[in-house]
Amino acid sequence: MSESRQRDPIQGEIVHEYDGILEADNRLPNWWLATFFGAIAFGALYWFAYESWHFAQSPREEYAAAMEAAAEAGGEVTDEMLALIADNDQRVSDGRNAFASNCAACHGQRGEGQIGPNLTDANWIHGGAPTSLYATVRNGVPSAGMPAWGPVLGERSVQSVVAYLMSIRDTNVPGREPQGEVWVPGAAPSESEPAAPSEPAAPSDAPSAAAPSAAAPRI
Ligand code: HEC
Repeated sequence: MSESRQRDPIQGEIVHEYDGILEADNRLPNWWLATFFGAIAFGALYWFAYESWHFAQSPREEYAAAMEAAAEAGGEVTDEMLALIADNDQRVSDGRNAFASNCAACHGQRGEGQIGPNLTDANWIHGGAPTSLYATVRNGVPSAGMPAWGPVLGERSVQSVVAYLMSIRDTNVPGREPQGEVWVPGAAPSESEPAAPSEPAAPSDAPSAAAPSAAAPRI
């Protein structure tokens, strides 16, 4: 425990010595202090830029924008992507408008069902996963009187309408009785495949449009 003011050739002035362990108290090098205070300043600026002033898009916002852009460019449509679109109030309200002018005649003003099924319950004939709704709306169910809306509305509007459907599902507006099976959120989207909306159209009028790999095993 003795304190001695000895000097060490490498450490310089020794301020403490405990059981033979020598401790110096030198000033930290400037380059080290610069990175230390620099990191603090960067952290503070970064926080303000992203969280407070919103100078830049947060990674989540950037991701949502990239997904939307990919979808519009004809990229693969996924449940996750449709969920992001359903979070966008503007897209949901676009979908509401498209629904009022194109779908309400058969599905009711509030989606409660008329000629077509009630879209506000938890039951779905063709699957309730976002990609299932997308497939039904886009390709229709021609054999059952549900038109294909892809060619009529275009890709963006179909996705907006699906976002709107996701906002009214499970609101249970009184109307037509539930039809089909209850879809539980988070359930495997495998239900989207049995919906055969695109299958009937392929063999009849557009054999060349079907990917050969997909068509071959069915023959
Ligand atoms: C001409 C009438 C008609 C119009 C217009 C119409 N639908 Fe339909 N829709 C139907 C019928 C009939 C069914 C039921 C199909 C079946 O029983 O397989 C249906 C089914 C659906 C389903 C599947 C429901 C389920 O339980 O799986 C969705 C989703 C749907 N329609 C959305 C829409 C949207 C969105 C629009 C507007 C862009 C629209 N429909 C316009 C008649 C229509």
